Amino acid sequence: MADNDKPDHSKRRFLVAATSIVGGVGAGAAAVPFVASMLPSERTRAASAPVEVDFGRLEPGDKLIVEWRGKPVWVIRRTKEMLEGVKKNDDKVADPDSKRKPEFTPSYARNEYRSIKPEYLVVVGICTHLGCSPVDKFKAQSEPFEQGWRGGFYCPCHGSLFDLAGRVYKNKPAPDNLQVPPHKYLSDTRIVIGDDIKGA
Ligand code: FES
Repeated sequence: MADNDKPDHSKRRFLVAATSIVGGVGAGAAAVPFVASMLPSERTRAASAPVEVDFGRLEPGDKLIVEWRGKPVWVIRRTKEMLEGVKKNDDKVADPDSKRKPEFTPSYARNEYRSIKPEYLVVVGICTHLGCSPVDKFKAQSEPFEQGWRGGFYCPCHGSLFDLAGRVYKNKPAPDNLQVPPHKYLSDTRIVIGDDIKGA
C-alpha cells in the first residue's frame, strides 16, 4: 500500500453538528433546513433561537462546528495533554482570568479552562480583532509563529494567537479572548447554545 493510501490517524475529525432550534417554531423543535421555508417573522425568531447540540460522537481531540445566530460555534473535546497545555499558558496570554470583557465569558466559564466541563471547550470561532476565522493548530510543537507552541488557534489575517481555552496571546492585534457563548448542559453530551441558567 502506498504511503498516501494509508489512513492518517493523526488527522482530527471535523463534524458538522445536527442541531435543532430550541423553543420551537410551531409545535416543538424545528430542524434547521426548514428555516428557509418560514415566514420572515418566524425566520427572525428562529435565527436568534437557542440551538441544541448532541456531541456524543466527538472523540478526544475532535472539533464540531455548530451555527448559532449566523456564527460558527466550536465544540472541542480536549485531551489531557491539551488541558495541560492550557494550564502552562497563563504567562503567554493577555487576559488569563478573562476579566477584560466579562460579557465574553459567562460566570460559569470564568475558570482555568473557560468551560463548564474542562473536557469540552465551547467558543465562538471568530477572531476578536476583525472577525476572521482562526485556524486550528492543536498540536503542541514549535511553529513558525511561536516557538514552543502548546496548541491552539492561529488567525492568518493579522497573526493573532489563541490557546486551547480561546485566550488571546499577549501583544497580538486581537484585543480579547474568543467569546464563550451562553450555554448549558442538558445531559453529558447535549448542550443548548444561546440559553443558560442565569446568563453571563
Ligand atoms: S482578524 Fe484575526 S488577527 Fe486580525
